Amino acid sequence: MKEIQDTWTKKAKKEGYRSRASYKLLQINKPHKLIENSDMIIELGSAPGGWSQVIANLKRKNTKCYAFDLLPMENVEGIQFHHLDLFSNKFNKFINNLNTRADLILSDMSVNLSGIKVIDDEANKELNLFCLELSKKILNKTGALLIKTFTNQNLKTLKKSFENTFEQVFVEKPQASKTSSAEVYLLGLIPK
Ligand SMILES: C[S@@+](CC[C@H](N)C(=O)[O-])C[C@H]1O[C@@H](n2cnc3c(N)ncnc32)[C@H](O)[C@@H]1O
Repeated sequence: MKEIQDTWTKKAKKEGYRSRASYKLLQINKPHKLIENSDMIIELGSAPGGWSQVIANLKRKNTKCYAFDLLPMENVEGIQFHHLDLFSNKFNKFINNLNTRADLILSDMSVNLSGIKVIDDEANKELNLFCLELSKKILNKTGALLIKTFTNQNLKTLKKSFENTFEQVFVEKPQASKTSSAEVYLLGLIPK
């Protein structure tokens, strides 16, 4: 299995992607064409920029993409990066000043692990709920929300919240995601 996983890292290097995470987004996006069908994209937790590169490659020329992270990120052409914490006033202001709704919100965010499972799970749950609340505020009628989450005691409730919010919900485990990792992605399509 390790061999297969190393393949994604090698492939990323060879193909000029900043992280193997790029393939996770490529694989989830492929059947739904989420990026290709969006005019306005918000990417949360974008550094070092692997997903931003995928968005930049697949998006239509005039599609706007705003990316955010706590960490700095090297420029990706076509992506407007903001170096900030999503829980800051700056981000709140940005959202309140938006004059278009988003077609797609993407989040590959996770917290820095403390090593204490209950603490990490709760902190990640907070990030997940933040994304869900944001989607209720700014998504278009036909929009989509894709977030990274984890297979743990919170997943069932989170999935239920997605089902209450979206017409269609998918739990995705892309091939490029390590089988040893509890990470999965939740995709919600078309807000109710
Ligand atoms: C797994 S990395 C994202 C990798 C990225 N998708 C890529 O392909 O390069 C998760 C990111 O979420 C960011 N993050 C976590 N909490 C955040 C917060 N409150 N505000 C902004 N960014 C946050 C981290 O700084 C980290 O860079």
